[in-house]
Amino acid sequence: MTIHPIASIFFMIAVTSGCASYETIRNDKSLFHDLGGKPGIAAIVRDTIDLAAANPVTMRHFEKIDIPDLKKIVSEQFCALTGGPCKYTGKDMAKAHKGLDLNAAEFNIFVEDLRHALDRNRISESARNRLLALLAPMKRDVLHQ
Ligand code: HEM
Repeated sequence: MTIHPIASIFFMIAVTSGCASYETIRNDKSLFHDLGGKPGIAAIVRDTIDLAAANPVTMRHFEKIDIPDLKKIVSEQFCALTGGPCKYTGKDMAKAHKGLDLNAAEFNIFVEDLRHALDRNRISESARNRLLALLAPMKRDVLHQ
């Protein structure tokens, strides 16, 4: 069977442009993927919040909070932040933590709990560091609100 030369050019364009857009999507979402996508992020957030809600330094802040709701909205935030297919619909960080008056010691303990959660979920060191680097600048919006 012979393939018409023009048809073969169209075929090549379709294949190569398809590959290019696949590569772009994959690269943009690599942290989201490295964290295990939506189920991976849900597990990391679940473990972090469970640890923080049981940690003597931070537990008082979580006593009157709807924990399943908080897990859902933080998972959505992490998904959006890491390039996943989500739109964060929650409050900005200052408003979200208003009235908690969080201090640096509480923030550091929370980050420690996040590190334990990342460890527990076998997240690579590179992905762990990239996530922590994305969250670090939020510290000033979270503290003393
Ligand atoms: C970079 C660090 C942090 C991030 C990215 C973060 C993220 C969030 C998000 C997305 C929400 C929900 C916003 C909404 O309801 O629309 C939230 C609420 C909350 N966060 Fe954080 N958080 C951080 C640090 C902390 C720390 C250090 C604590 C306490 C030790 C904490 C305790 C809480 C509590 C108790 C709420 C619920 C507040 C309420 O519903 O009244 N967060 N956080």
